[in-house]
Amino acid sequence: MRERAVIAIDGPAGVGKSTLARRIAAELGYVYIDTGAMYRAITLRILQGAIDYHDSAAIRALLDIVHISFDPEGKIFLDGMDVSDTLRSAEVNALVSQVASLPEVRERMQALQREIGKDGGAVLDGRDIGSAVFPDAEVKFYLDASIEERARRRLSDGKESVFVELEAIKNDLARRDTADKERAHSPLVQTKDAIYIDTSGMVIENVLEVMLRYISGRSVG
Ligand code: CDP
Repeated sequence: MRERAVIAIDGPAGVGKSTLARRIAAELGYVYIDTGAMYRAITLRILQGAIDYHDSAAIRALLDIVHISFDPEGKIFLDGMDVSDTLRSAEVNALVSQVASLPEVRERMQALQREIGKDGGAVLDGRDIGSAVFPDAEVKFYLDASIEERARRRLSDGKESVFVELEAIKNDLARRDTADKERAHSPLVQTKDAIYIDTSGMVIENVLEVMLRYISGRSVG
């Protein structure tokens, strides 16, 4: 038994998971693990090294040497370099779901996530946390929202370049959602035991309140 809980937050792209996960972790004094950033970091490394992601020997060799870590503020380091601000480029967006569909990449990232969260006191957000990484998580959420609303939020949250248009963001989100739901290895699914919240039309503060209420109802924290 873990003394402190694992809180799993899954859902499609741009639904507000990372903002909410960060806020919940701060509220409970837990660590926040942004698993999407880990897949983005591997993708960035593949781009930097001009590695063919279809070449599984090259990917395995890369996974043997690459080092990904977080600092207590949630900044992510790739081989010792802070890459937090470079993970959301259009190039990474374009490739990340293909890289994240590779079984060897998923297995390595999932092992790392389990290692960081094994003692509990952790909030993880991603696609497969409640279904594959921590199926025994004490609290699981599945967040959703319409694609229009997710694209609008993405445009206004400043994570995208100012030159990207709403339609392009919508296309990127839809393309990644399909890839994430259809891949063979640990796809995005809503587990039966996850609390489903449709956040369309809700402001982040309301969603946070609802989530914190569920968490305290489970006597976790
Ligand atoms: O922030 P956003 O929702 O756009 O994406 P993210 O959470 O940074 O994740 C980027 C990509 O990583 C996703 O589209 C998935 O392809 C992949 N991912 C995954 O496969 N499994 C996870 N647990 C987290 C992310």
